Amino acid sequence: MTICMASVEDVRVEVKQARDRGRTIGLVPTMGALHAGHVSLIREARERTGFVVVSIFVNPTQFGPNEDLNRYPRPFEKDFQICREEGADLVFAPSADTMYPAHFQSFVQVERMQQYLEGASRPGHFKGVATVVLKLFNIIRPDTAFFGQKDAQQARLIQQMVRDLNLPVGLQICPTVRELDGLALSSRNQYLDAEQRRNAPILYKALQEAEQLILKGERSTAEIEKHITARIASTPGAVLDYVAAVDSDRFEPIQRIEGDVIIALAVRFGRTRLIDNVLVSSATLKSLPNHLLPAG
Ligand code: PAF
Repeated sequence: MTICMASVEDVRVEVKQARDRGRTIGLVPTMGALHAGHVSLIREARERTGFVVVSIFVNPTQFGPNEDLNRYPRPFEKDFQICREEGADLVFAPSADTMYPAHFQSFVQVERMQQYLEGASRPGHFKGVATVVLKLFNIIRPDTAFFGQKDAQQARLIQQMVRDLNLPVGLQICPTVRELDGLALSSRNQYLDAEQRRNAPILYKALQEAEQLILKGERSTAEIEKHITARIASTPGAVLDYVAAVDSDRFEPIQRIEGDVIIALAVRFGRTRLIDNVLVSSATLKSLPNHLLPAG
């Protein structure tokens, strides 16, 4: 049975009872509008923990003033049905007043990592994400929380917060789930009109081409970024917000492809902004056949 709760006190009692019964607690934090990517997180949580909480909360503090907070989809009945079908034990769906009561004034920031990529494009975004995730961790006290690699910077930033603040929670980062044509699943894909949807797979295509260039020996991030920029520019309706190659640990921009690298981009189609990324691992680069290795 899946129960739904909106109050912090009720959730705490329910989770404590589960813990007293010997269950480990898994948390899948979401903003709802659940899709197969979320389902994969719920399934992973079910496999690895004994009591699965899915939080559904469209967090206002992570949206900028001109972003899509008001039109963000909120199909709560459908979301709850998905949670039930996937065997989640508890859906925590608090109101904005519950999470941010009057006079709320405490925020957490992961100072350096929040400056780049998504953080640079969406000032204040990661302050909102880190704060709400910390609150969810404090309310639910999960043993393990599950996040998607699609939001790679978010996942890394939360890892950093957990490490810096000694939070007693394990993190599991799960692979990006894609449509057959490569488009990463996102609650925002439903904003796309038919033509935009046809062109949206260019994000992943361009990233895959970048990976191929690296496998062939390209090590200049400027060249990689140039290639992706040109591919997006030649796609009807697509406007590049950013593309960057970053060190996968610090999430800081790098000049040369070395070690584990994330190549990430954000692209706008009209008012819809999509993100995607690939990890190019040092293990892959080391296993390149000799004739593909760059000279020197
Ligand atoms: O990835 C999301 O859906 C949100 O950023 C999260 C982690 C649920 C925080 O609101």
